[in-house]
Amino acid sequence: MSDSASSKIIVALDVPSRKKALELVEKLDDQAAFLKVGAQLFTEAGPGLLDELHKRGKRVFLDLKFHDIPNTVAGAIKAAARKRVSMVTVHASGGKEMLKAAQEAAGPNGPDVFAVTLLTSLDSEDVEQVFGRAPVSLVDEVVRLAGLAAETGLPGVVASPTEVKTIKRSYGDALLVVTPGIRLPGDDPGDQSRYSTPGAAARAGADYIVVGRSITAAKDPAAAFQAVAAAFAEGA
Ligand code: C5P
Repeated sequence: MSDSASSKIIVALDVPSRKKALELVEKLDDQAAFLKVGAQLFTEAGPGLLDELHKRGKRVFLDLKFHDIPNTVAGAIKAAARKRVSMVTVHASGGKEMLKAAQEAAGPNGPDVFAVTLLTSLDSEDVEQVFGRAPVSLVDEVVRLAGLAAETGLPGVVASPTEVKTIKRSYGDALLVVTPGIRLPGDDPGDQSRYSTPGAAARAGADYIVVGRSITAAKDPAAAFQAVAAAFAEGA
């Protein structure tokens, strides 16, 4: 398995404390180079954890899904850049001005800004309620929102395994796709209703995959990481 394949696997540190996060990083050893910090861990552990991960040579995906006025989001992205994170998320539904401000704030040396299109927890009825629209096809809505990211020059979007192919068909190489909802064959899907294996995600065109429980809940997280990275590399 090549180093480049393992650099495409982002491990979600979905644990409740700084101590547990650093224990997991230890267990993963040198293999996992790209780690995701989400709202729960960030709120609990604070931004100092980002420095600690950076000091250990890790790339950090700060998944706080910013959604605010352009000026505030730009400030948050600049703060993330000072913490030397590699990737951040914003909601595409924050609008073009916000997306543009986020991209400008990141600049050439800041984090890559990825847009969340529709949360996978939303169904067509939720979209109707929230956006006041007639019932929509969720995939059409995801592709439309991904278009805002492409038009404003963002490098990519976050999308479920079932949406990757359509996004790639619509935007080709203009948008990178980060895909959560990954399970090794035989793993418990838990609360993920739309999930796929690392190989299927690779074949669909995912550029990065986010993997939580298949690695973090494994008896041997380092071995599970290797299995995920090998399957992603082989498209198996
Ligand atoms: O444990 P599991 O592999 O399901 O974790 C997936 C990670 O990806 C979690 O951190 C979850 O919050 C995140 N995520 C997701 N679905 C999305 C966006 C993010 O599962 N649509």
